[in-house]
Amino acid sequence: MLWSKSFIPTLREVPQEAESIAHQLMLRAGLARMLVAGVYSYLPLGLRVLNNIKNIIRQEMNSAGAGELLLPALQPQELWDKTGRNVQMEEIMIRFTDRRNRKMCLGPTHEEIITELVASNVSSYKQLPLILYQIQTKFRDEIRPRFGLMRACEFIMKDAYSFDINEEGLDKNYKLMSEAYNRIFKRCGLNCFTPEADSGVMGGSLSHEFMALADSGEDTLWACAQCAYASAKNIGNCPKCGLGIIEKKAIELGHIFKLGVKYSQPLSALFTDEKGNRLPILMGCYGIGVSRMIAAIIETSHDQNGIIWPKEVSPFDILVLPLNITDAKSRELAFKLYAELNSSGVEVLLDERDERPGVKFKDADLIGVPLRVVIGEKNLKNNMIELQFRADKRVEVINVEEALSKIREAVQGAG
Ligand SMILES: Nc1ncnc2c1ncn2[C@@H]1O[C@H](COP(=O)(O)OP(=O)(O)OP(=O)(O)O)[C@@H](O)[C@H]1O
Ligand SMILES: [Mg+2]
Ligand SMILES: [Zn+2]
Repeated sequence: MLWSKSFIPTLREVPQEAESIAHQLMLRAGLARMLVAGVYSYLPLGLRVLNNIKNIIRQEMNSAGAGELLLPALQPQELWDKTGRNVQMEEIMIRFTDRRNRKMCLGPTHEEIITELVASNVSSYKQLPLILYQIQTKFRDEIRPRFGLMRACEFIMKDAYSFDINEEGLDKNYKLMSEAYNRIFKRCGLNCFTPEADSGVMGGSLSHEFMALADSGEDTLWACAQCAYASAKNIGNCPKCGLGIIEKKAIELGHIFKLGVKYSQPLSALFTDEKGNRLPILMGCYGIGVSRMIAAIIETSHDQNGIIWPKEVSPFDILVLPLNITDAKSRELAFKLYAELNSSGVEVLLDERDERPGVKFKDADLIGVPLRVVIGEKNLKNNMIELQFRADKRVEVINVEEALSKIREAVQGAG
């Protein structure tokens, strides 16, 4: 992409409304804009990051054997009456009556919908086990939307649901999802803890939260300074290595539950076992805050100048930055590299704006592409250009002839 065509409205000043670092940088880097409190538009850079995260999630879900579907956001309240959650989730549900006088809501989550779908399409043990997932917009009338994408009223979630004939099956799928989650967060550059959690409104016997440490987090956990151990409450010392555990603020990125028959019973999601008995399906549900992850990644990966994207989620692999686009030689090389990298499958952003180098460098730091190639007149006289690494500010001066191979190498390795 060319910078001037990409709609990247960066901001020099820290916006008034932004309460957290992630919120500030998200606005300053031109990733998203607020429509009303808790409701955001994703601009091209933000959408690229979102799509990268979605792709990682899809790859890991698919390889765990989960099937993707897409359920409606528009739902009848009637279904929610059957589980009692129309009352239980009253405060956060966005509800209304349509022109046919049907009582409807915008889905805050999808246990009821998927359970009813499976109830009417699965009847035998032969059709189980099954894991289904979707990546979809959820609506919650949150009491206090804040920190930008962190707590929004319209946000994107990945929700998965498992269906099993017995406890062993449920345990196996629960473990499978938990492992997939660890891979997803790792690939997105997020260091996650999983303290044992309270299953609250979802019910069921067991649940785990996936938490990233961050000062702006709304949750508290007790973490060991030495190992990856964390607990939901203060239990004194780390059971793994005996050291004291310390109170930390954390962001909840994912939550998984063993639901058992909580939804299958009231919604009659039954199967026939080998002996002909009709039994309720055992369920699990597994959520990830996809849009919240963007905020969490920024919160945990930035410096005073801007975002530092982990390689796999970065909106671009590389930024090509000619210092003076009006210099014919710089311009020619910049567009040549741009074309060559593009055609070899590298995601390139070319800052072809006629702006001062200072402006371009400030914007480059802000938007946080991990790797950039800087083309300057002085270096070019010696047939040289610079490779710059965003994270550690390392600079490598390289020959123009070896640029392509060096850049490809760096793109593979950066991050
Ligand atoms: N208002 C929101 N804005 C953005 N992401 C959210 C929001 N609410 C929940 N999420 C994300 O969706 C995931 C699954 O949803 P779940 O219903 O388990 O969340 P929750 O327990 O209500 O989260 P929280 O305690 O933060 O309100 C959460 O782990 C979180 O990452
Ligand atoms: Mg909530
Ligand atoms: Zn420990």
